Amino acid sequence: MSHKFNSLFDEKIPEVRKMPLVFGGQVRLEDIVGRDKLIERVIYDLNNTSIIINEIRRFGKTSFLRLLESKAPDNWICVNTTVQGAFTTAKLIEITLQNILNQARAREKIKKTIFAVGHAVKNAKLNLNGFEFALGKEYEADALSTFRAVLGSIGKQLIKDKKIMVIIWDEFPDAIQAILKKEGKDAANEIMKFFRAMRENKDSQSIRWVLTGSIGMHHIFREFSGSDTINDMATVSLDPLESRYIRWMSVCLLLEINRNTDGSDYLADASGGIPFVLEMMIKYIRDFDASVPQSVKDAESLLIEAASEINLGKNWTPLLERVGSYYGENAKTAEAVLDIIAMFPVEDRMIGELLRKRAKKPVNENTLDVILTLLLNDHYLKYDNASRLYAWKHEPLRIIWKARRRKGL
Ligand SMILES: Nc1ncnc2c1ncn2[C@@H]1O[C@H](COP(=O)(O)OP(=O)(O)O)[C@@H](O)[C@H]1O
Ligand SMILES: [Mg+2]
Repeated sequence: MSHKFNSLFDEKIPEVRKMPLVFGGQVRLEDIVGRDKLIERVIYDLNNTSIIINEIRRFGKTSFLRLLESKAPDNWICVNTTVQGAFTTAKLIEITLQNILNQARAREKIKKTIFAVGHAVKNAKLNLNGFEFALGKEYEADALSTFRAVLGSIGKQLIKDKKIMVIIWDEFPDAIQAILKKEGKDAANEIMKFFRAMRENKDSQSIRWVLTGSIGMHHIFREFSGSDTINDMATVSLDPLESRYIRWMSVCLLLEINRNTDGSDYLADASGGIPFVLEMMIKYIRDFDASVPQSVKDAESLLIEAASEINLGKNWTPLLERVGSYYGENAKTAEAVLDIIAMFPVEDRMIGELLRKRAKKPVNENTLDVILTLLLNDHYLKYDNASRLYAWKHEPLRIIWKARRRKGL
């Protein structure tokens, strides 16, 4: 077994060791690597402003947030809330307040403020986050005003204590979309306006937000006027991991499945630095008893095989699922654009032409512009100004897309 990369690692890279193979589940805190610089920057930014992390599903948002929480400075109260399941305004607020209550760093005074508007649910199953909190009936009807008032008092306390509260809403667009569906446009708009109100209120200035969302954030915001209230938030993207980190991961995961680590670099490089893609390739090697690739070409073939393996289909979908669900009547055209550009990078003026040939009918130029902008915003494509070429932003995603489309997956 060769661990030849070890000497290249700087001290921030942990020792080579076995690492549990998770693919979409929760990785151990000590296994989340390659994010130190970004953590530092985000902590700096959060001292002054709120932030949005908009990145493709499975790119490491939730892992990053867990790491951020664990590295929070002493004067922070970090409230990390997955809001995916919040389908009403009241629910969104209840789980947020519940998480503040369950945060060890929140002082009694803060807890008292919250218990003034609600209570622990009797006989509720004790869940992972401790007990369940419910707003009092009289507060539920206008949950958002209640929330604003509670945060106002908490904010005053924070200023006295020289503390900052960082409220993380992970998968926020999913909550907004669910609320939009269940409570209507006005309710969704109210939540978006709430961010502005918070910003303009002196009492709540020590409270910051981290909103994360997958592809689709802007599609949802387009459905109502909301998004301009969060324009001032700093946008953060999660780039793929630097080569030395993903190569380290590759060795650790091969050790975990009891394989020789020769060839680990080829695997790491084929994943394009995306941990989830690497995990899926290793899972494929394990489940289908495939050999560890020994060349660049081998590694690409392995990725294609893994991507087109029907039994892994469900695991892959989160990476690429969003075209069908968010592009509405333009979905088919958007998919055709991705198909064309998956063959080779295409000059902007050629795309319409190639589409017409393919669809055997004309394509409206304005519609095409809209689609291309969305595909750029959704991180599928990138555009190079100098060459005027559109290409896939992430090479492994291009390969996975092509392989799966060929198989009709
Ligand atoms: N920095 C990292 N180091 C190691 N593994 C990571 C890292 N970021 C993500 N992963 C892996 O990728 C998978 C997807 O990450 P996750 O944080 O759930 O993404 P998202 O929240 O964007 O969907 C996780 O199961 C985890 O194993
Ligand atoms: Mg997540």
